[in-house]
Amino acid sequence: MNKLTLDDVDLQGQRVLVRVDFNVPLDKQENGSPTVADDTRIRAALPTIRHILDGGGKAILISHLGRPGGQPNPDLSLACVADHLGTLLKERVRFSSNTVGDTVREVVDGMSEGSVILLENTRFESGEKSNDEAFARSLADLADIYVNDAFGTAHRAHASTAGVAEFVDPAVMGRLLTKEIDILTKVRDEPEHPMVAVLGGAKVSDKIGTVRTLSKVAEKILIGGAMSYTFLQALGHEIGSSRVEEDRMETASSLYEEADGALALPSDHVVAEEIDAGAASTVVEGDIPEAQMGLDIGPATVDTYRSAILEAETVIWNGPMGVFELEPFATGTMSVAEAIADATDAGAYSVVGGGDSVSALARAGVTDRISHVSTGGGAMLTFLEGAPLPGVEALTDAE
Ligand code: 3PG
Repeated sequence: MNKLTLDDVDLQGQRVLVRVDFNVPLDKQENGSPTVADDTRIRAALPTIRHILDGGGKAILISHLGRPGGQPNPDLSLACVADHLGTLLKERVRFSSNTVGDTVREVVDGMSEGSVILLENTRFESGEKSNDEAFARSLADLADIYVNDAFGTAHRAHASTAGVAEFVDPAVMGRLLTKEIDILTKVRDEPEHPMVAVLGGAKVSDKIGTVRTLSKVAEKILIGGAMSYTFLQALGHEIGSSRVEEDRMETASSLYEEADGALALPSDHVVAEEIDAGAASTVVEGDIPEAQMGLDIGPATVDTYRSAILEAETVIWNGPMGVFELEPFATGTMSVAEAIADATDAGAYSVVGGGDSVSALARAGVTDRISHVSTGGGAMLTFLEGAPLPGVEALTDAE
């Protein structure tokens, strides 16, 4: 993947349209107004924004926030993100409540060099997700240079991530996108062995390609979360009332076969009758009784997974081991976070991505002990699978 980057362009006086991923969690203040709950993704975009401002460019930032379905939704406005960005940059960040139209054109035309504006949520426009050409062209009209720095959304072929790049020349990679791609390429293509991948979360269907690709390079893939019950049922185990994907049984059993011993499944489980922090929970080995559902990996599985992680030279993690938001079902996920931090301290290279895993790292207090915390979840999985990222493919080829 040889694409132009920020280093290849002269920014002086240019209108630089930057696709960032400011899809960040929001909280409500006491007075009811929204505020940014976790600014990791905003901070991750700062090197690109600063470089543009220092180079005399005019930074026009665009992002989505949540899934408003092509309609304006005041709860998903980026206005509070503009304020937060201004505080981090120590610069005035203007906000435009329009993404397209004459008003935004006039505001952008009036920008001075070294200034920055954030436009409203691109997903308020129905043309964003459908990659509508007219919407892509209207974004392109705002720009002399397009920069994609939204690694977290690079797996989406939307108007602001892919379509727009067809109509702006040059279209280049930002600092964050470059960094993520460089690190993940190394981990995917030249990992130190043994390599261990920890994959959790609800659905096998989200991770089929990743499991298939990683099982060819990783010595072990440790499976947790609800996706493990689909695998277990497909292999003939009783899983009680655990969440499963009935239509993925064949896929799960063929993935298991193909992995040829690399795929590890939980041997014991923390179970309860319902997903409730107050529900009575117990540990069961092997099959899960009727009317009980698996909500976390059990202590024997924690020990096995920890040992495998500590033997690794490369560790990749995406997806929680259980319903870690609820204390009684958090131990598996927290233990994986700690094991990966310990392995990293001992010299392994670790990469963690996905909103739940990244927030589990923070909750376990180990974020700083991880080699690379990715800003992508789905994008990281797509890249590790070896599938193209439309947001990168669309950019201008380097000579
Ligand atoms: C993410 O948080 O994974 C990205 O911002 C993409 O969001 P999406 O899954 O709503 O496309």
